[in-house]
Amino acid sequence: MNDRWFSKAVVYCLDIDTFADSNGDGIGDIPGLIGRLDYLARLGVTCLWLHPVHPSPGRDDGYDVTDFYNVDPRFGTLGDFAELLHQAGDRGIRVIIDLVVNHTSDQHPWFQSARSSPDSPYRDWYVWSDTEPSDRHQGMVFPGEQHETWSYDRRAKAWYYHRFYRFQPDLDIRNEQVRAELKKIMSFWLQLGVAGFRMDAVPFIIEHTTPGQPSSPKDFDVLTDLRQHVQWRRGDAVLLAEANVEPDELVDYFADAGGSANRLHMLFDFMLNGRLLLALARQDPEPVIEALRDTPALPAGASWATFLRNHDEIDLSRLTAAQREEVYAQFGPEEHMRLYGRGIRRRLAPMLGNDRRRIELAYSLQFTLRGTPVLRYGEEIGMGEDLSLDGREAIRTPMQWSSLRNAGFSTADPADLVRPIIDDDEYGYGTVNVTAQRRDRGSLLGWFERMIRTLREAPEVGAGSCTHVDVPTPPGILVHRADDHSGTMLFLHNLGTEPATVDLGDLYDDAELPTEVLADQDYPPVGKLDALDLDGFGYRWIRLRLNSHHSPITGSTSGM
Ligand code: NOJ
Ligand code: CA
Repeated sequence: MNDRWFSKAVVYCLDIDTFADSNGDGIGDIPGLIGRLDYLARLGVTCLWLHPVHPSPGRDDGYDVTDFYNVDPRFGTLGDFAELLHQAGDRGIRVIIDLVVNHTSDQHPWFQSARSSPDSPYRDWYVWSDTEPSDRHQGMVFPGEQHETWSYDRRAKAWYYHRFYRFQPDLDIRNEQVRAELKKIMSFWLQLGVAGFRMDAVPFIIEHTTPGQPSSPKDFDVLTDLRQHVQWRRGDAVLLAEANVEPDELVDYFADAGGSANRLHMLFDFMLNGRLLLALARQDPEPVIEALRDTPALPAGASWATFLRNHDEIDLSRLTAAQREEVYAQFGPEEHMRLYGRGIRRRLAPMLGNDRRRIELAYSLQFTLRGTPVLRYGEEIGMGEDLSLDGREAIRTPMQWSSLRNAGFSTADPADLVRPIIDDDEYGYGTVNVTAQRRDRGSLLGWFERMIRTLREAPEVGAGSCTHVDVPTPPGILVHRADDHSGTMLFLHNLGTEPATVDLGDLYDDAELPTEVLADQDYPPVGKLDALDLDGFGYRWIRLRLNSHHSPITGSTSGM
């Protein structure tokens, strides 16, 4: 068994409904995804994170579930899902699924029953108030689209709590039966063969909400309890959580007060995400250096998941207002590119002006920093967004497989597609698609394949430590290193446009045949590391040492 496989994984996230449609109804499905597993295996990803797979009225792209024990019939059957797990496993790819248990859809039979009568066995599964709560208009996650967090239900004759949209009533974690049900749901999917869960909205799952008290206490023991349960059912299962909280609160999500890492295995690194965007906008690595320095040290065994893009807006709420403006000015200059007063609803390629050198730089940086990299579908070919679509849908358009009709995504009538295909000149499927990039060895897709393969030969990246190498450098340059018992990798990134030369001669004594393994172009040999050239937006990955005597059991690479 691979110890902590997740810290050496490369994660790829996708929505089944926009990935590949096998039966021509215009909606991506599980057999369609199975048909594309070889593509994903070649790309080198070792874990898929599937956005919600459950039946849903689809008012929040599946994050409003009506049945936790099934898959959305539009995607296929549970049998298809089991086949997906089998086929993915054959290719060394693990599958984790979104677990959206802070709330249900208001159409879920539990809520339908709960609202129907105060005597319903499900009434206390949700959070109610008989009178209008004074904090009704506080704590909205989607300002502009959501106007309150308590809504009146005429059927129930009471107010119910919903941290998100009004059609997503919150479950009450204080209720023993709710907690038991969550465990049952997790057991069910683990038994079927998923490798773990991306847990949605964790800070809100664990809140003890009381009307009139906007800052509710959090019950972190719930996380310890769920972790223990999951681990008994499947020893190597992972809990990867969405918890976008202040840095000083982070540790509580990983470990108990005694410092034992017995809660969530991984958190998305929202702090680093905002800092990366700020650093790219300023062409100055300082915000990333600060993030590496200031983030609290993780308890042993815990890890970060890094990302540049996910399925939501880029959330810049952890930056100051002035910093946010700097990022907006560069990457979201027009009002309709922004969302909720805190974020940007764009993909990375258009944000970076479709500059191939800058896209490579950004992804090289993300993939070599601490933690496990997560890649959003379509980013590997440089897809764009469709700002004519509502809100976050702008970045949820169908995968562009080829220049055939509907981008090879579906044979349906274009009017029946789950979402329109991007077809503008620069990012349209005629220009940006997998098939064309497959034929072109110099394509972005080809680069991603090489980059990911190279990363997988360097298990210390992600699993080991990640530190800023604090040496004098020209402006715009970041030097960092990854170390563990398996070896050491050194990375140079130039976030600016000016070519530079970096002197890392002091590291030479500690190196063992330093060798460049990836770079944006052919540079002169690394020599004694004392005159390393770096072009504008350039990057170089240098293996400093490989500890060939490291233990084959704990040091082996993950997956296939
Ligand atoms: C966070 C998810 O990432 C987002 O897409 C969703 O709308 C909310 N949670 C509500 O489930
Ligand atoms: Ca379909």
